Amino acid sequence: MKNILVIGSTGQIGSELTMELRKRYGNDHVIAGYIPGCEPKGELKESGPAEIVDVTSKENIQNCVVKYQIDTIYNLAALLSVVAEAKPLLAWKIGIDGLFNVLEVAKDQKCAVFTPSSIGSFGPATPADNTPQDTVQRPLTMYGVTKVTTELLSDYYFNKYGVDTRAVRFPGIISNVTAPGGGTTDYAVDIYYAAVKGERFVCPIPQGTYMDMMYMPDALNACVKLMEAPADKLIHRNAFNIAAMSFEPEMIYQAIKKRIPTFEMEYQVDPLKEKIANSWPNSLCDKAAREEWGWAPQYDLESMTDDMLKVLGEKLKRGQL
Ligand code: SER
Repeated sequence: MKNILVIGSTGQIGSELTMELRKRYGNDHVIAGYIPGCEPKGELKESGPAEIVDVTSKENIQNCVVKYQIDTIYNLAALLSVVAEAKPLLAWKIGIDGLFNVLEVAKDQKCAVFTPSSIGSFGPATPADNTPQDTVQRPLTMYGVTKVTTELLSDYYFNKYGVDTRAVRFPGIISNVTAPGGGTTDYAVDIYYAAVKGERFVCPIPQGTYMDMMYMPDALNACVKLMEAPADKLIHRNAFNIAAMSFEPEMIYQAIKKRIPTFEMEYQVDPLKEKIANSWPNSLCDKAAREEWGWAPQYDLESMTDDMLKVLGEKLKRGQL
């Protein structure tokens, strides 16, 4: 990777991935693609080049790729699960029409492409525990429909045109820089903000509902490590199960309460989030990722909780929350 374009660079993953890539490959080699209204700010803006790259415009993507001689595209433009249920056509337009644009440009300009899939690509017919790499994918949500299609289209462009497409199935990502917007797993981020601010947390996910989760540093490593992996070692491509921890609301609540004994949580279940969460696996088997490109997470619930509370506590003191 020499010149990289991040589409969706101001989103939850993009804002941190762009900075991580700049650290690794040099500031000028990583272009922050954004849409009007979501301009880069602060360090993201000041540290390197940025361009308007709307994934729904093939011309935008093409111009940027040619201008900066891009060889790798991280395509992170997407609507999360709950928003996609409210706007299914827009979810398809961004997720799939957008992906076609990215893949067509990548085919012509010889770029590698990373477009994440998700635990949301699975459905109620999927084995819920230790979900295999290759198994039933019949999701109920539009988010899931776009993610399965993403996997298929990405594999299609690899098999038919040799485009170097690779991806992971992300679990819920927990981070302290940019908030996720409208996902089913967002509660596992929101709970830390509430705890640090001394607020009682209202949990929208029912007790006992397990989902896979991951701390952002591991998610960033997964992206880079997979894109750097030797191609001849990859049996799978789109997309690899990756896992770091699986928990239900009571477990994350207890992990925080151990550190902040006054913290309280109550349940007010959101029926849509409940339905979506129940249709997703409890925990994925990530054996293929471990074997084919050396995936190994660093953070579990305890070490993530230590770090989240430390970082958010410092932000609160600086008046940044
Ligand atoms: N975090 C996503 C969501 O909740 C799942 O990949 O929509």
